[in-house]
Amino acid sequence: MRLLDIRNLTVGFSQHDGLVQAVRGMTLHLDEGESLGIVGESGSGKSVTCMAALRLLREPPAKIAADRMVLAGVDVLKARGADLAQLRGKAAAMIFQDPMTAFDPSFTIGHQIAETILAHRPVRKTVARGEAQALLARVEIKNPAAVLDSYPHQLSGGMLQRAMIAMALSCRPEILFADEPTTALDVTVQAQILQLIKDVQTEFGMGLIMVTHDLGVIAETVDRVLVMYGGRVMEQAPVQQLFDAPAHPYTAALLASIPGRAGGRQRLTEIPGTSPNPSNPPSGCPFHPRCPVALPQCSQEMPALRSTAPGRDVACWRVQ
Ligand SMILES: Nc1ncnc2c1ncn2[C@@H]1O[C@H](COP(=O)(O)OP(=O)(O)O)[C@@H](O)[C@H]1O
Ligand SMILES: [Mg+2]
Repeated sequence: MRLLDIRNLTVGFSQHDGLVQAVRGMTLHLDEGESLGIVGESGSGKSVTCMAALRLLREPPAKIAADRMVLAGVDVLKARGADLAQLRGKAAAMIFQDPMTAFDPSFTIGHQIAETILAHRPVRKTVARGEAQALLARVEIKNPAAVLDSYPHQLSGGMLQRAMIAMALSCRPEILFADEPTTALDVTVQAQILQLIKDVQTEFGMGLIMVTHDLGVIAETVDRVLVMYGGRVMEQAPVQQLFDAPAHPYTAALLASIPGRAGGRQRLTEIPGTSPNPSNPPSGCPFHPRCPVALPQCSQEMPALRSTAPGRDVACWRVQ
């Protein structure tokens, strides 16, 4: 079953000095039990895409349009009131880079997870609290009873991220959105959290959307990868194919910037040039000003996202 179907999504923000075009014609889908990585440099529109899918953006200033956007059977663009509540929590849950922002500092972790459960299911308070404790244990928090009564500031970043995963799981969502879930954590904790997300995805039978600027994070976490640049999809491929044979010059440049790859180069090589200004995006393909193999037409027209093999799409004039 298709869990998420987004076609031609555009998201703009109107500002006093003009329009910020954050997402410009994004198409993506996710099937049951599948995991998708969304990768791209900072500012490419990854978070805005996820926030739009959950209708978490304030409208206005955000303006969302799409030919179709359906999440776990909910028509996202038409959702109002009860449908919106269904969308966030039951259909999908999101974990963020900074778990501190997801929790209210003035209530205990247990209270907040229990409240989330109570908002979606008619159970008694004691049952909700028991479930919250069981979820904390499931996310491998060693002393769940104590953490239940802790305030957010009393926990480490890694513990708080585990608690946020517990809260996300509490409504048994069909899709879990994880937006840079390990970026703010110590390297040693990062791998544990990624493994945990992978494990609960399988156990709870959820779809997973893993957003990151770091290709290294997704290599062992997702089935399929979508590469974004300047609010557009550049390439989409099964993860191994993307690593073995990147088709888009931007994907190749991203891969070359992973330390230890690209012919054994140990230093991180930044992609030369700067990312596009979303208030004044370049004409044609947004990557053309930085592309080492750009053709004359690249500055004139955005190439369509074309299928080059089953499950493989590329938007590049070089790959036609
Ligand atoms: N509320 C907002 N108002 C104006 N511009 C925004 C807003 N949120 C995001 N943007 C802009 O949209 C673009 C995409 O942002 P985002 O999706 O957060 O990028 P990332 O890929 O790093 O997650 C950026 O240029 C960002 O500055
Ligand atoms: Mg982001």
